[in-house]
Amino acid sequence: MTAKRLIVFDTTLRDGEQCPGASMTSRQKLEVAKQLARLGVDVIEAGFPVISQGDFESVSEIAAQVKGPKICGLARCLPKDIEAAAEALKPAADAARIHVFLATSQIHRRFKLAKDEEEIVRIAVEGVRLAKRYVQDVEFSAEDASRTEPEFLAKIIQKVIEAGATTVNIPDTVGYAVPEEFASLIRYLFDHVQDIDKVVVSVHCHNDLGLAVANSLAAIKAGARQVEGTINGIGERAGNAALEEIIMALHTRPDAFGKIETGIQLKEILRTSRLVSRMSGLAVQRNKAVVGENAFAHAAGIHQDGILKKRETYEIIDPKIIGWEQSELPLTKHSGRAALENRLKILGFELEKEEIDNIFSQFKQIGDKKKFIYDDDLVSLVEGQISRIKETYELEYVAVTVCSGGIPMATIKLRHGEEVLVDASTGDGAVDAAMKAVDRITGQHGHLVEYEVKSVTEGKDAIGEVTVKVNFDSKKLVTAKAASTDVIEASIKAYLNAVNKALL
Ligand code: KIV
Ligand code: ZN
Repeated sequence: MTAKRLIVFDTTLRDGEQCPGASMTSRQKLEVAKQLARLGVDVIEAGFPVISQGDFESVSEIAAQVKGPKICGLARCLPKDIEAAAEALKPAADAARIHVFLATSQIHRRFKLAKDEEEIVRIAVEGVRLAKRYVQDVEFSAEDASRTEPEFLAKIIQKVIEAGATTVNIPDTVGYAVPEEFASLIRYLFDHVQDIDKVVVSVHCHNDLGLAVANSLAAIKAGARQVEGTINGIGERAGNAALEEIIMALHTRPDAFGKIETGIQLKEILRTSRLVSRMSGLAVQRNKAVVGENAFAHAAGIHQDGILKKRETYEIIDPKIIGWEQSELPLTKHSGRAALENRLKILGFELEKEEIDNIFSQFKQIGDKKKFIYDDDLVSLVEGQISRIKETYELEYVAVTVCSGGIPMATIKLRHGEEVLVDASTGDGAVDAAMKAVDRITGQHGHLVEYEVKSVTEGKDAIGEVTVKVNFDSKKLVTAKAASTDVIEASIKAYLNAVNKALL
């Protein structure tokens, strides 16, 4: 049986980033894109260039710096969108793909677009033709395809193929489909679109009913040869299909799905998942398939016994193949800059000299407090460095007093340009008091929506990583993080990062 090749299209940086509070800086997106290239995805959808200057620049930077995968930019079927995408993608040259989309379902045609079928076909065809003037590789998505009348869907797909589309994508935009029905729709298109064999048929499933992965797999079985999704399944509402789950299902069950090849380097899966989680600030649920903390943790004695006798009794995936348990020997405060640089390279980070200088100085400070510095500690330091933004306010000093039965109190000193500002506040606890003191100095009043402390590694001396989600004026939801061996300091830095992000 010859293997079929599946194109893996990653939209973590576009659809994934549309998740509230998940926005990433250009620097963070670049690092994720480089890791996606190492993971071996075929296409990276880097953003929606017309939407903002930041998105435009980020697509352009990724197009210039990330080699290997195709780099894709999203556009509505509007000249200004397509022109912005073409311009942003220029540095990718032949590796550029423009992805145009237009809603096709009756509900969207009637209520959102107020256009009839004929007009929808005309706009889609013009969009594809215009994109084709800039790049060879054009993808067309029929938004809300799964709720579109199959006859109309087949008609518009044939027309966009005639106009030059090279990939046609069938999204389940609102996560409404169920597997057998979605597979039937794909088969229907193979049977009713005359030129379907000339293009790649793609699917893009959302997870509103928790069926995004199941629907994607059913469509692959029915002949789809591109699958779209995000790492960790992040995305709007309930998210997109989790690529790592699709990949591992195909890998583990060739008997069910046939022999399907991808370019994915399985050993990079866990690292990619963790990077996306840290960069987006969206934690991976513990029991998440493939990449959750508990995915390979066996608590029940009977399972542990079985695993020790033969791993396959209770484990269907060898955790090592996706990058679990790959830790190298830890570094210590005696390790030099060359050792640090070398380890960072092994971990897959390509950093500027100045960035390494900063990380090295933090590494030495941590080395004084902690006996061993593990790979996860280093990743946390690197991610702190990558996530740095312009600091309107910098933390100079913090002192907190807490005593049982007493009133917690915090004194904070912040640098604001040349000025040093000091204030103090009481609060419910040390963190509350310190955040209130920050508010008094900066004049910002953030409402803390989420607060999470997590230790990066084991041990009482471990680095604590704090993630906060803060709402400013009920308008702006900002996610920010910081790490320190002292969790109070990490909490204040994370909150201050959120304030600085909001001020940007
Ligand atoms: O969900 C969707 O329909 C999309 C399209 C833009 C492909 O994200
Ligand atoms: Zn989508």
